[in-house]
Amino acid sequence: MPDLEAQKQRAALQAVKEVRDGMVVGLGSGSTAAYAVREIGRRVTEEGLKLTAAATSSATGVLAVSLGIPLRPMGELGKLDLAIDGADEIDAEFRAIKGGGGALFRERIAATAASQMIVIVDSSKLVERLGRFALPVEVHPFALGLVEQRLARYGVPAKLRLRADGTVFWTDQQAHIFDISFGEISDPADLATELQAVPGILAHGLFLELIDKVIIGLDDKVKVLERPKYPEGVDDAKAD
Ligand code: 5RP
Repeated sequence: MPDLEAQKQRAALQAVKEVRDGMVVGLGSGSTAAYAVREIGRRVTEEGLKLTAAATSSATGVLAVSLGIPLRPMGELGKLDLAIDGADEIDAEFRAIKGGGGALFRERIAATAASQMIVIVDSSKLVERLGRFALPVEVHPFALGLVEQRLARYGVPAKLRLRADGTVFWTDQQAHIFDISFGEISDPADLATELQAVPGILAHGLFLELIDKVIIGLDDKVKVLERPKYPEGVDDAKAD
């Protein structure tokens, strides 16, 4: 049995090697990203690393502050040098599903603002096709009924996310999440375009052209994959 926690940590430590003095860094959310935040905190304390960070969730913000990492609100930052975040699934084309922890809205802002987006994962997150993990879609409460109707057209289960105590889940934006069990998603780009067009959907968890590097933690090493650069003239979701 692979030790997935050790794999997550290994990937996170490798990613944090890319953080340098003076950088503005987006801190992801979830258990893998938390390893990276702890390692950044260690470098701030033990090595005097100087950086500015933006947190993609209130939970990450609390952790970062407890470790002495200087934070600025993302709204004050147009650009980040680097974002480090986890994922729920990722395929060989650097396409991911994110949002299992409910931070997809802020994670997308950070990933888009970052000159470099590094995704850190353990080996269980690699998939041939996206969709085994239910796709999170964040919805403004005012649009809940409308979005539920639109999602019903896909003919697959879309469950309103609940907390462990059975009450409805609220995101940091005071919105809700539907988790949609698509199974294999045949055309992620098409689906992303459709979901983006529904009024009231604040964010979906398909991260398709945002990821520049994937660091996979394995049992005794890490594997680093870099997305080939777009040729000049081809649209890049993140180009200025
Ligand atoms: C939170 C996320 C997380 O990055 C994703 O859920 C992975 O989490 P973990 O590292 O705990 O498996 O997208 O919204």
